[in-house]
Amino acid sequence: MGKLSLWSFLSEQGQDLPLPGESVAGKTIVVTGANVGLGLEASVHVANKEPTLLIATCRDTVKCEQTVKILRERCAGSRPASLDSWPLDLSSFDNVRSFADRFVAEGPERLNVLVANAGTFNPVYTRTQDDWEVMLQVNYLSTALLSILLLPHLLRSATHDDPSRLVLVSSLGHYLAEPMLTDSQNWDHILGAISAKKFGVSGYNLSKMLQVAFVRELGARLPSPTPLVITAVNPGLCHSSLQRELEKYRLLRMVLAFVKWLLRARTSEMGSRNLVYAALATNAQDLHGRYMSSCEVVEECDFLLSAKGQAFTERLWRETIEVLSKVDDRVSQIVSTYLPAR
Ligand SMILES: NC(=O)c1ccc[n+]([C@@H]2O[C@H](COP(=O)([O-])OP(=O)(O)OC[C@H]3O[C@@H](n4cnc5c(N)ncnc54)[C@H](OP(=O)(O)O)[C@@H]3O)[C@@H](O)[C@H]2O)c1
Repeated sequence: MGKLSLWSFLSEQGQDLPLPGESVAGKTIVVTGANVGLGLEASVHVANKEPTLLIATCRDTVKCEQTVKILRERCAGSRPASLDSWPLDLSSFDNVRSFADRFVAEGPERLNVLVANAGTFNPVYTRTQDDWEVMLQVNYLSTALLSILLLPHLLRSATHDDPSRLVLVSSLGHYLAEPMLTDSQNWDHILGAISAKKFGVSGYNLSKMLQVAFVRELGARLPSPTPLVITAVNPGLCHSSLQRELEKYRLLRMVLAFVKWLLRARTSEMGSRNLVYAALATNAQDLHGRYMSSCEVVEECDFLLSAKGQAFTERLWRETIEVLSKVDDRVSQIVSTYLPAR
């Protein structure tokens, strides 16, 4: 069963993680949330390997321009045409749909890898323009929408020997989400209830658990051996701007810096190796539908492995598809074509 202990956490944090040597020649790779942190470092690793095209997404066009500039500076050897950055704001379903439309209209034939890294940590209860709690929408609902809308492209690009990859950047925090779900079987609507409750910091962990549940269900709906390997990844505790909302306050900034030092926080570069590994490592079929930490498959939280968690996951999937089908007609078509019930 899933385990989380201080000792195993600390020893993991100190590990030097591998970087896969696999080639990305001929591949198109999308990394979301690529202007800073893990997404930027993962993009640098990928760009240095010279894919056919890397699309590094950022929230707006200004950040896109800055990111292309940084990538060109840090990856001096790569061909300029192989680096691009497109805007994508996950707090808006319309924006996700526009990104998918643009991919259909302007994107390349192939999409081999989607690293769904963009995520937010916002303990102050906030609702998006689509009227969902912001961490639920950005980290879960919009990430699921993007994954589903790009799924046909990922499937089309797969070959027998080289399946496509979908990597969702989750978190160790998902192990801590169970207490919020003790009476979830009594909720009329899981997503509605989560969106309405003021979970604060815990809402982040919950959104990360929903990602792991999504990976398990989506993974189980694909054929075996799978043409699309889908994985949830824990990058470990890393230095990045993720806690920027807390770091606005001087005292909290100091406390967080101390805690990160005590808990041996990784650099964003080291943390990003988890993403690159899940996106490229050759033992693809072993990673499918699984949760990874420190470049190894490990067990998900006990809740998701239990009968109650399985029932929760199935309900969550149904509700997610119902919600997203109202956002975009393509969702139900894609699900009925490629993701039949088990
Ligand atoms: N750092 C850790 O210790 C840690 C641990 C476990 C999991 N993770 C996960 O790792 C991923 C990357 O986080 P990070 O640590 O690199 O944090 P970060 O430095 O804050 O990067 C987060 C990225 O996501 C983007 N993003 C946030 N809200 C967005 C939105 N509405 N639409 C589009 N993009 C958005 C950010 O863009 P802006 O800069 O424009 O906001 C940024 O590019 C996240 O999914 C996070 O949950 C991080």
